[in-house]
Amino acid sequence: MVKIAIWCRHQETSIIGMGPNIPWHISSDFKRFKRITQNKALLVGQTTYESFPNRTLPNRKIYILSFDKDYKVSDPQNHMLIPLESVADIQEELYISGGASIYKLMMDKSMPDFIVDSAYMGQIDPSFKGEPVTISRSIELMHQNYQKITDDFILDNINTTIWAKKGHPVDEKILEHLKNAIYNF
Ligand SMILES: NC(=O)c1ccc[n+]([C@@H]2O[C@H](COP(=O)([O-])OP(=O)(O)OC[C@H]3O[C@@H](n4cnc5c(N)ncnc54)[C@H](OP(=O)(O)O)[C@@H]3O)[C@@H](O)[C@H]2O)c1
Repeated sequence: MVKIAIWCRHQETSIIGMGPNIPWHISSDFKRFKRITQNKALLVGQTTYESFPNRTLPNRKIYILSFDKDYKVSDPQNHMLIPLESVADIQEELYISGGASIYKLMMDKSMPDFIVDSAYMGQIDPSFKGEPVTISRSIELMHQNYQKITDDFILDNINTTIWAKKGHPVDEKILEHLKNAIYNF
């Protein structure tokens, strides 16, 4: 299975959320996420899953991590609770889509093959309340273990680059898919 981590973080602070929400609203970022993950399988933590409108994302299969074995998903045909130890058995391409605890878990333990790193260079919207959620550790690991394999691509104040694991072969088909989804608006 090829794993791709995908996030949009605040460039200076590595914040990805404030309470349950993302503290900026840039529609091209949502569209990029949709183009990349359309008809693909996602892995998310329960908090992120709860933050999706109606706890769903159309046309995507969603694997959810929760310590609560009785957690009920909104769409049992397309959404599955998965124990952490079974994630390695997933065969299809897997898009690791947050939140911070899941990025950290995957960056520490299993190192995704690719990272789609979107860095938001604007201001955090002060109207969002709640605890800041950061991915500083994951960004540190990205800089240590990955190399940037694309040029900067800036749109609406968000710089998106693709990173690949140092010293590992790159899956060209998936790289092509990522580039198409990022560059072709
Ligand atoms: N900007 C972005 O790109 C982006 C993307 C995604 C999310 N976000 C933001 O990130 C924030 C949420 O991140 P978060 O770290 O607080 O929450 P999270 O990672 O989405 O979910 C945390 C939950 O996942 C489950 N979990 C974590 N580790 C587990 C393990 N080892 N085994 C089984 N289950 C496990 C637990 O669920 P239970 O409590 O049910 O046990 C835990 O409470 C929100 O603000 C969201 O908007 C931002």
